[in-house]
Amino acid sequence: MTTPCSKKQSKLDLIKQVSRDDIDRWVAKYPANQKQSAVMAALRIVQDQNGGFLTDELMDAVAEYLEMPSIAVYEVATFYSMYELKPVGRHKICVCTNISCMLCASDEIVNHLESRLGIKLGQTTPDGRITLKEVECLGACVDAPVIQIGDTYHEKLTPAKIDKILSSLN
Ligand code: FES
Repeated sequence: MTTPCSKKQSKLDLIKQVSRDDIDRWVAKYPANQKQSAVMAALRIVQDQNGGFLTDELMDAVAEYLEMPSIAVYEVATFYSMYELKPVGRHKICVCTNISCMLCASDEIVNHLESRLGIKLGQTTPDGRITLKEVECLGACVDAPVIQIGDTYHEKLTPAKIDKILSSLN
């Protein structure tokens, strides 16, 4: 039989120990009564733990762990583009199409990526390898046009550079 207590326990169990240790390092950066300040880091950590996307259960677990309302966690997860609420490919290519990138021909970059991968923005290749995502300014306007893959920025892009990058992805 599931008791309220065991239910709570199983929710928190969704966060692996290694992730908790990582979250705790972020929590320690803030005053003791401001654990929720670590919510963005916590969401990134559990998203990585879960293969690149968040589930309601994981967001609830983060809320429980940081002692904050679930709705406040959902608000963060649905506002920022780095969080995913459904499965994504092994590699997520985030393409900036904001003003500086647009002026530096990000549409050419998008067209080239779409034609090379056979998918549109917002889609994942059928083999689950690559997701193409349109994002707002990545803060690297001076080197536009820009894409981000994982933690790496690729800047001053051309179709030829895109080909090189794609062939380097496993
Ligand atoms: S507009 Fe693309 S990085 Fe700023």
